[in-house]
Formats: sequence, structure tokens, C-alpha cells
Amino acid sequence: MPDNSNSRRNFVRKIGGLAGLLSVSPALVAWKTETGLIIPEVAAAEDVTRDEDYWSFIQQAYSVSPNIINLNNGGVSPQPIVVQDALDRYNRLSNEAPSYYMWRTLDEAREAVRMKLADLGGCSPEEIAINRNASEALETIIFGINLQRGDEVVLTKQDYPNVINAWKQREKRDGIILKFISLDLPIEDNQLIVSKFKAAFTPQTKAVMITHLMNWSGQILPAALISRAAKKHSPTIQVIIDGAHSFAHINYKIPDLEGDYYGTSLHKWLCSPFGTGMLYVKQARIKDLWPLLAPEDPQSPDIRKFERLGTRSFPTEMAIGHAINFHNTIGNERKQKRLHFLKNYWVEKCLNVPGFSTQTSLKPEFSGALCTFALKGMEPGQVASELFKRARIHTSATVWENISGVRITPHIYTPIKDLDRLVDTIHAIAKENVTAANRTSSK
Ligand SMILES: Cc1ncc(COP(=O)(O)O)c(C=O)c1O
Repeated sequence: MPDNSNSRRNFVRKIGGLAGLLSVSPALVAWKTETGLIIPEVAAAEDVTRDEDYWSFIQQAYSVSPNIINLNNGGVSPQPIVVQDALDRYNRLSNEAPSYYMWRTLDEAREAVRMKLADLGGCSPEEIAINRNASEALETIIFGINLQRGDEVVLTKQDYPNVINAWKQREKRDGIILKFISLDLPIEDNQLIVSKFKAAFTPQTKAVMITHLMNWSGQILPAALISRAAKKHSPTIQVIIDGAHSFAHINYKIPDLEGDYYGTSLHKWLCSPFGTGMLYVKQARIKDLWPLLAPEDPQSPDIRKFERLGTRSFPTEMAIGHAINFHNTIGNERKQKRLHFLKNYWVEKCLNVPGFSTQTSLKPEFSGALCTFALKGMEPGQVASELFKRARIHTSATVWENISGVRITPHIYTPIKDLDRLVDTIHAIAKENVTAANRTSSK
């Protein structure tokens, strides 16, 4: 149950009515957005996971429609109003004289965005390149690392399709060998996951691909343990991490994962503008990674060689900084706890639904906000379309390898009432499904 017995709540209510007030108490600082919204900033140690008052202010920072229940934030997330406004301002400015404002003015701030991203990622700005999405970051790595014919790459059948396709293209073109392992999800045993990777290592293994948080079911893989096992097998193995779903969702720093390369989208959990992403390359590896779009010196040790994209949207890139400020106001630990709470909130209320099953762990070490569920006897597409038809609940039907179900992804702006609606609708669909099945079997 949400905890409403919090004395701070009254403070929050009070400032809610006092637009323009910036600081009301040393314990509670109100953060005024450019749009006049006030977001409470609470003491670092305060646990607000179940404090619906706190989260209702966060909800108001978004412009999401109340006429659709968007539970597919795993696909792409909306931006808080501050980010949309910043993007709009940069765009309007750029349109006053595009080449002047984009290339001579806004571009200077690229280094500030890089520094903010590096702070968030816990690495050096000299290891961060700004790009358009996780696909671009990861394909830069996949096509850019040096591999010879016959070299082996270990990956899973549950990796993201763009990633698998890139590796397959490299297999066709360069004669590398892909060694796929398959994971039966959920798995709540890190050693079991590590042992599956280890079993695929051979003397020819030269690279390992790790999806940190799997888009299909939300499973978190023990990236650092897999990386360590790979490096123990052979110190020269190159470890590539897909952080598209874990960045700004799970609370960690990129070097904690012990990989050589890492790619993520920023338009998922960070809520940056659509079409923003980030590439991390460990300093010692930059020189030997070939860029997709060639700069003057492709073997330069400067991370900026991966940003030779030509003309792109500078307003979009500049607005990333505003998304980081918004994220930091909440804090990653607080955000991760809330997201995990939201997932467990609805799943626990569905465990007694006849025919309900899930391929997602409920434990925080193995999952975050994403959960994939199924109803016995119904196709995922059928369940997803019933959810939308009955309650305008937008989800994602997933069928891939050994995963089949409907993926539900709330975000920090999701009101509890929307999850109650989800639970009621799942109960109703399942009840009718069981009645229909009984009718058929008694015929
Ligand atoms: C695990 C994973 N990796 C990579 C991507 C690609 O992200 P983007 O579409 O931002 O390139 C996604 C997108 O959903 C994903 O889920």
C-alpha cells in the first residue's frame, strides 16, 4: 500500500500551491521547472518508493495523455516538459540562422553534454561519444572491432535483433563464427548464467556480447561476472555491453560492468529527446576501434572520431543535458526502487489470476520495471489487443525465441491507478478466457 503517513507530505502540498517558491525548508527543496511546475527534492536518504504524493509531482512534470495508458515505455519514453521546452527553444534558435547557431553556438556545448553523460556513466568524458541511439552505438562497435576469419563471438539468442543482425552481417562478410547460447528466462542464479557463457568459450573466442537488461522479459544479466569470466578465459577477449535498457533505469556506473565497449539509447529510461544515444569505449580501446563514418584519422585515440555523422539535430543533442538534470533531481537509486516497485505492484496482484504466468523475476537483482506475462490459451497479440480495446492500455506483444507474452513497462510518471486498471483488466480477460475454455471442453 502507498505510504501516506508522511509529515513531509503537507509541506509538498503547501509548495504545490505556491508556484515560484524555490526553497521552503533545508530538508525539502522545491525545484521549479521552466514551465512553472514544482518538483519536490527530498533528502538523499529518504525512501519515497511508496510516497504517491512525491510521485504525483513527477507525473505532473510530463505531458502524457490521460486518455491512453501507456505501458510500453520500454519501446521509447516520453520527455518531461522541461526537456520538450528546451528542445523547442534550441530548435527555434537554430532556425534563426541554422549554420551559425547550430555549428558556431550550440556545438560548443557538446563538450558540456559529454561531461554530464560521463558523470552519469561514472567514466571519463574522453570515453563518451554522443550519437543517435543504441543501435548506432552498438553497430559502431560490432563493425569496428578487429576480428579475423574464424574468430568466434559468443552471444545469446535473446540479444536485440539489430545486434544479432549486425553480427550476422559480419559473419557473412568476414567469416567470423557466431556461437549462440540460449537462456531459459527467468533465471535467478547468476552462476548459472555465467556457466552458460563459459561453456561456449573456446580458444578461438575473441569477443563476448552481453545484453545487460533484456528487452524481451526484463532479465538483468550479471555483466561484470560474465566479463570477468571471459577475461579469465583469455585477457584479450573484447567484451561488448548492450545497456539500452539498463542505463538510467538500474543504478550502476558503466565501469562497474567491466566491459570494453558499451552502447545505450538515451530516449528510453533517461527520457532524452527521441533519437539520442551514447557510445562508451574504454580509453585503451579507442585507437583500435574503427568508426563507421570515417574521420581524417580513423585510428586516432580521440573519442570524437565517432561523431563524424555530418549534419544532425543539434537541438536534440543539446536537450540531453536537461534530461540529465531532471533525472538527477530524482536520483537513480530512488528511480530504480520506484520502477521495481511499480512492476511488482501489478504483478503480485495478478499471480492468482487463472492461467497467468510470467517470464520475469520479481527480485530486484534480476529485474527492474519490465515484465512479460502470458495468459494460458491466448496468443500475446490477442491479450494485447484486448487490453487496448477494453481499457486503452498500450503494451507490446512479444514473441521471440523462447519468450512469448505481453510486455508491460510503466515509467516513473505512471500513476498507481493506471496499474490498478491494468490488474482489473487482466482479471476480466482471464475470467472470460477460462469461461470460454470451459465451455469448449464441456461440448
Ligand atoms: C536491448 C536493446 N538493445 C538495443 C536496442 C536498440 O535501441 P534503439 O532503437 O534506441 O537503437 C533496443 C531497443 O529497444 C533494445 O531493447
